[in-house]
Amino acid sequence: MTTFPANFLWGAATSAYQIEGSPLADGAGENIWHRFSHAPNNIADQSNGDVACDHYRRFRDDVHLMRELGIGAYRFSTSWARVLPEGVGRVNQAGLDFYSRLIDTLLENHIQPMLTLYHWDLPQALEDRGGWADPRSADWFAEYAQLMYRAFDDRVPLWCTINEPWVIVDQGYVEGRHAPGRRDWAEAAAVSKNLLCAHAAAVDAYRAVGKHAIGLVVNLVPIHPASDSDADRQAAQRLDAYLNRQFLDPVLLGEVPPELPQMFGADWPNWTADELRRIRQPIDFVGVNYYLRLRVCDDPKTGLARARAVTQPNCPYTAMGWEIYSQGLAEILLWIKERYGDVPQYITENGAAFDDISLPNGAVDDAPRVQYLKEHLVAARRAIEAGVNLRGYFAWSLLDNFEWQCGYSKRFGLVHVDFATQRRVPKSSARFYSNVIRTDGAALEDKTHA
Ligand code: FCB
Repeated sequence: MTTFPANFLWGAATSAYQIEGSPLADGAGENIWHRFSHAPNNIADQSNGDVACDHYRRFRDDVHLMRELGIGAYRFSTSWARVLPEGVGRVNQAGLDFYSRLIDTLLENHIQPMLTLYHWDLPQALEDRGGWADPRSADWFAEYAQLMYRAFDDRVPLWCTINEPWVIVDQGYVEGRHAPGRRDWAEAAAVSKNLLCAHAAAVDAYRAVGKHAIGLVVNLVPIHPASDSDADRQAAQRLDAYLNRQFLDPVLLGEVPPELPQMFGADWPNWTADELRRIRQPIDFVGVNYYLRLRVCDDPKTGLARARAVTQPNCPYTAMGWEIYSQGLAEILLWIKERYGDVPQYITENGAAFDDISLPNGAVDDAPRVQYLKEHLVAARRAIEAGVNLRGYFAWSLLDNFEWQCGYSKRFGLVHVDFATQRRVPKSSARFYSNVIRTDGAALEDKTHA
């Protein structure tokens, strides 16, 4: 039986706006999620990230907790508006100091940092100047990226440019469920291209000053047609182009999937050969966020891809309504290898929301999450056996946190957070993951969690 490679990173992931709280503290500028969550009716439980997990003030405890659990790597994001309150120009040293303390604390506890530059919290000052729809956004992002490399590349070995550009485009500019809450296909098409240019500009800047590794993080979803009909098959292919290939094809092949200009029509911007060449520059790894599979049927009324998701009776779903399909993780990792070649991969997020039940003694026995983790780690191991160059796994998430438009109503944590008291209690899944880490995966064979 294959085990996990010797240097495999066993990690946990979070993002700045979802856990930090204190979004305006110590000179930070406002970001678009602060603005969006404070406007009425954007968040299911009318909450916001003002306090979240109060990680900004409790980060030391959280790092110690990770160490107790044996977690060896931590993927977090930095808030652009904390370090550049206006997005460009004036640097807020207090913001840099916060991340410097966090990184030092991680290293003191033998936890490898993986830093994501952008996990959706654009400085509001830049949004006011056009945000990602403005082509100047690539320069803005490169300025911010350079600042961070200079400050932290001596201590941070793994960098991610942008988290899930598809979600930014689709939820932020097509569906309008995320900040900045727009519904405009022309803007979405411009944002898609601008995000790629921004990613490329940040990689470019890294090659000038960085000494380690940088990559892009995408969310990928196996998309299967709901029936054998040609119409459903084509719908699945359109959604696959929109969701899975929109960013990886330009970055790794230097091509735009041909379905996209067809779907966006006249709204699709022109891409010059020079732009495509710049976007294609080598990256050191692909970060994969994996949660679910979609089965779709053709539906002319549904979204850009004209593909509607159908649910299946007798299939397991999480509290998000996402189908649990662990073998899809292996499928996706192998698909990357086949389509794009042997690029190193990390699973940068994987996890599930369930309606956890707290027992009277305060413990949280989250058996469904234990099962979810186990199945997905077994699938990851299968992908390694099949030759995928998989370097690490980051569970989403370390802590229950602010789940965007769902507010605090959906819990993804390995560690339960009581948002009234900020008390942290590791769930059974945290104990299980800890055992997996301690045994380098051998605990996956433990039948007590079958
Ligand atoms: C991903 C996001 C992450 C979290 C999980 C559940 O799409 O990157 O912030 O919301 O989903």
